[in-house]
Amino acid sequence: MTTVSPQGLLEQALERVQHATNEASLDEVRVAYLGKKGLLTGLLKQLGQLPPETRREAGQAVNRCKQSLESAIESRRETLHRQAIEARLESERVDITMPGRTLPAGGPHPVHRALDRILAIFGQLGFNVATGPEVEDDRYNFGALNFPEHHPARAMHDTFYLPDGRVLRTHTSPVQIRVMEAAEPPVRIVAPGRVFRSDSDQTHTPQFHQVEGLLVDRDVSFADLKGLLSAFVNAFFEESLEVRLRPSYFPFTEPSAEVDVRWRNEDGTTGRWLEVLGCGMVHPNVLANCDIDPEEYTGYAFGLGVERFAMLRYRVNDLRLFFENDLNFLGQFR
Ligand code: PHE
Repeated sequence: MTTVSPQGLLEQALERVQHATNEASLDEVRVAYLGKKGLLTGLLKQLGQLPPETRREAGQAVNRCKQSLESAIESRRETLHRQAIEARLESERVDITMPGRTLPAGGPHPVHRALDRILAIFGQLGFNVATGPEVEDDRYNFGALNFPEHHPARAMHDTFYLPDGRVLRTHTSPVQIRVMEAAEPPVRIVAPGRVFRSDSDQTHTPQFHQVEGLLVDRDVSFADLKGLLSAFVNAFFEESLEVRLRPSYFPFTEPSAEVDVRWRNEDGTTGRWLEVLGCGMVHPNVLANCDIDPEEYTGYAFGLGVERFAMLRYRVNDLRLFFENDLNFLGQFR
C-alpha cells in the first residue's frame, strides 16, 4: 500500500515542468511521471490493492492528476516552442531599412575614354584602325621615315634602345611605313598605340599614347588636312574652337605643321593657343621608301597625344595622374 498521494506527485511534477527550459528536459518529466514506469502510472497499477470501496475514487483522483500533468506539459511545450521561434527570429532579424552594400563599379580609364572617342570620330570620317609593334627596328622608327643617319632629328626623341639595337618606338609613325608597305593607295588609317621616350616631368611620362593618322590618295592637299583636323577637334571637344597651323619640322612630312587650338577657359572666356598635334604632307621620300610613286600619289599624316586630349577634355592639369591610378581620381570619370 502506497503512502504517496497523487496530488503530491502532481505538485512535484508541475514544479519540474515549470523549470524545464527545453523540450528534451520536458520530455524527461513526462517519462518520469506518465511513462510506463512513471510514478503516476505506478499509482494506477497499485489500485488493485485498495479496498473496493475506495478504489473508484482513488482511480479518479490519479486520472485527474494525470490529465492535469498532461495538459501542463502540453502548454509548457507550446510555450517553449514559441520562445524558441521568437529567439530565432530575433537572432536572424533583417533590418530592411539598412542601405544595401553596393558593388564598387569600375569604368574605363580616362585615357581610354579619350582614345575611344578619338577612334570613333575618325571611324565616322572613314578611317580604319591599324596597329604595329611597340618594339621596332631602327628602319621603321627612323630610317624609312626619312630620318637621315646621324641626323640631329633623331635626337628630338630621347629613345630607349634595346641591347640588340632595336628601339621602343618613340612614336606611332612607324605604323605609316608598315601600312604603306602592305597596301596600295588609297590608304586611310588611324593607328593608336603606346609610345616610349626617356622623359619625365609634369607634362611628359616615359610611356604615353599616340594616335597616328595617314591618308594617301590622288590629289590630296594640305587644305584637306586642315579641314579634317578642324572637323576632328570640333567633334572631340564638342564646340567650335579656332584651329591654326604653325610651320614646323618633321623629317617624314613636307611641309610640316603644328596644330594649335584656341582654348576656352572654364568660365567661357577665350584662352591660350594650345599645341595639340603634329602633321604635314607625307614626304615624297617616305612614299618612295614604301614603293609608292610620289608623282602619282600624295598624302597627309598627323600624330596626336591621347593624354594631351584627355587632359584638355577632362581638365586634368598633371599628366602623371593618369599613370598613378589613384582610385579617388579615376572614380571621378565613371
Ligand atoms: N610622330 C610625330 C611625333 O611624335 C608626330 C607626327 C605624326 C607629325 C605624323 C607629323 C605627322 O612628334
